[in-house]
Parts: sequence; structure tokens; C-alpha cells
Amino acid sequence: MDFTDQRLSYEKGVLDQQSVPTSPFELLGAWMTEAIEQKVQEPYAMSLATCGADLKPSVRIVLLREITETGVVFYTNYDSAKGQDISENPNAEVLFFWHELERQIRISGRIAKIDAGKSAAYFQKRPHDSQVGAWVSEPQSGEVANREVMEQKFAQLQSRYPSDSPVPTPTFWGGYEITAEHIEFWQGRASRMHDRIVYSKDDNNNWQTKRLLP
Ligand SMILES: Cc1cc2nc3c(=O)[nH]c(=O)nc-3n(C[C@H](O)[C@H](O)[C@H](O)COP(=O)(O)O)c2cc1C
Repeated sequence: MDFTDQRLSYEKGVLDQQSVPTSPFELLGAWMTEAIEQKVQEPYAMSLATCGADLKPSVRIVLLREITETGVVFYTNYDSAKGQDISENPNAEVLFFWHELERQIRISGRIAKIDAGKSAAYFQKRPHDSQVGAWVSEPQSGEVANREVMEQKFAQLQSRYPSDSPVPTPTFWGGYEITAEHIEFWQGRASRMHDRIVYSKDDNNNWQTKRLLP
């Protein structure tokens, strides 16, 4: 298959260094609000890149669950392949691509587990079947012989924890926060003259912006 004749012209917006807010989180919040209003499907889906001690990068989608004052939070299984990578190397990056808005956002920084109490509070808010599913998927990314094995485990756990009884929060499951060090906003423009503004922290811990060549 050859896609070399396939191209779109991006013309939906502009990004001007002079008019962006001082805080990247203000712009991130504004872009997220617009993505929700414009009905981007799963605007919270972000690609998470990690790299363990083997120096082989891995990337997969996780769901953004919170934008804090310092970064972004998602939830997963700490025993997963990504959890292993993170335990070996705390540098990570997430990426959003919203084609409806012709926008990309990259957030990189150090990643760490969030407070266990906060993870438990979120786990208990999830639908009962998702809670059971978290127990089935241990260790996440481990091999399973076939789908029936998974379904049997799911059924056993459902009878152990009927829908009116609480499911305990697994110790192997919880949130990670990436504390942002760089946040890049990309707005597609015509003729590949895209706008790229990146925020980075200076020595006084203030955010500074730079325009990057597309
Ligand atoms: C739309 C979408 C949302 C997902 N959200 C999550 C999530 O929030 N947490 C998670 O652990 N996996 C999520 N996954 C599954 C991951 O992409 C991945 O398959 C899984 O976490 C195992 O990754 P790993 O082997 O690199 O650890 C999602 C997948 C998709 C397609």
C-alpha cells in the first residue's frame, strides 16, 4: 500500500506565542474544553510512551483522568509492562491527537505513583464490573491461555463480589502522575507551516515559551 499521495491541508486554527496564557495548564484546560465541546471522540485518550532499562520504547493508549496543578493523572495496573518500565525509568511522555481540531499536545516529565488513598477513592467510584475486571487482569500484560480462562476468572470473582458488595481495591492497581516539565501545543496550518509552542520551566521555576520550527 502506498499513501504518498494522501495529504490534508490543516486550516482550522492558529497559535500565537504573544497571546498564549502564562500557564500551560490554562491552555491545556482551554483546549480540552474545546475538544469536549466539539465532540472529539475520547478526547481523554492519550498515547503514553515509556522506556525501561532495555532502552526499547513502548507506547500505548491510557485515559487521562485528571489535570492537576502540576501534571496529568491516569490509572493502570502497577504490575503491567508499563509499570515495569516506569519502575526502571521515571521519564515518560503522553500525547493527544485531536484530528477534528487539527491539534496535538505532548506532555513530558517525571512519572510517579499517586497517593494510595486517592487511587482507592477513584477505584471505588468505578463501575462494579470494571472493578472486577481489574482483579481479572493481574498481572496486566501477562499471557493468558485463551479467552475462556479470563471469562471463568471474571465469573468466579463476580460470585465472590456480587453487585451489591464492595470490591476491595487491589494494591497492584492505582494512579500515576506525570509532573510536566515540557508541554508542547501543535496547531496544524496550511503548507506544513504548523504552529508549535512549547512551554518549559526556567531556573526560577517559571514557565517560558518558545516557538519551534514545524
Ligand atoms: C481507548 C483506550 C483506553 C485505554 N485506557 C487505559 C487506561 O486508562 N489504563 C490502562 O492501564 N490501559 C488502558 N488501555 C489499554 C492499554 O492501551 C494497554 O493495552 C494496557 O494498559 C497494557 O499496556 P502495557 O502492556 O504497555 O502495560 C486503553 C486502551 C484504549 C484503546
